[in-house]
Amino acid sequence: MSSGVLELEKDALRWSDVWRASSTLQLSAHSDTFYAYLHETPAGWHLPFRHLRERIFFWFVLAFWVHRKTGYTIGNGLALVSLDSGRAKRLSDKIWGVFLGIAEKMLCAPSKEQIRRAQEYKILKGCLLRESFGEDGKDSMILLDSLATHPSVRRQGYCGALVDYVSRQADNERRSTYLWSSNPTNTEFYNNHGYHEVAVAFLGDSNPVWKKPPVRCPLFCRKYNSDTNT
Ligand SMILES: CC(C)(COP(=O)(O)OP(=O)(O)OC[C@H]1O[C@@H](n2cnc3c(N)ncnc32)[C@H](O)[C@@H]1OP(=O)(O)O)[C@@H](O)C(=O)NCCC(=O)NCCS
Repeated sequence: MSSGVLELEKDALRWSDVWRASSTLQLSAHSDTFYAYLHETPAGWHLPFRHLRERIFFWFVLAFWVHRKTGYTIGNGLALVSLDSGRAKRLSDKIWGVFLGIAEKMLCAPSKEQIRRAQEYKILKGCLLRESFGEDGKDSMILLDSLATHPSVRRQGYCGALVDYVSRQADNERRSTYLWSSNPTNTEFYNNHGYHEVAVAFLGDSNPVWKKPPVRCPLFCRKYNSDTNT
């Protein structure tokens, strides 16, 4: 089903949306297998007020989107997507980046194993991107990231409309789009919106402390479509 037909109001994410959006992102993260791999470690994450700390951390992440103007929403934070067009980082972006790192350390206090897994994930993504698109291929592409709909309004076309909106913008700029899909149940959703798997790797397959099956980490791409150009 193409949600392009739905008249859903898509807006740039605003400061006033950020608290509600942080709940959407947090609830979605909890059903995300990448997130589980990055956080379910033997040392765990047993901080007091963990849920609130995590929510505040997501608030900072989303505030960064507002600052960078990369976030889009429907329903003032009920459905979200971040669109990273690879624009060069300004000084203020770099300062935000440092600030986010500090906020993560203070609020989430990641364990050594969590930091190691985050590094493993980063390296794996870098390798797949180079293999699939060439050394700097991704620099001319748009990254569609952190797609999430609040559980109360799923299957009503919200994220489909956001994905189509981003794809149209990419077509207008004559650029292809890529994304990481964490959840196998979303494959059909992405396929229906023109995104197809181009490569796959596995997280945790050689990690002795990860007792669950390796986490499938597929890379999806949607090629620039000149037909939808306006
Ligand atoms: C994946 C996710 C973002 C989809 O968001 P959504 O707003 O529910 O997406 P849509 O409503 O546009 O589409 C979802 C499905 O509902 C169907 N649908 C859309 N409108 C519908 C309607 N009015 N009635 C019935 N079904 C409908 C779509 O056809 C689609 O089906 P498909 O998966 O077979 O293609 C959402 O489920 C989510 O946040 N999941 C948790 C986080 C996550 O997995 N994020 C993606 C990381 S890769």
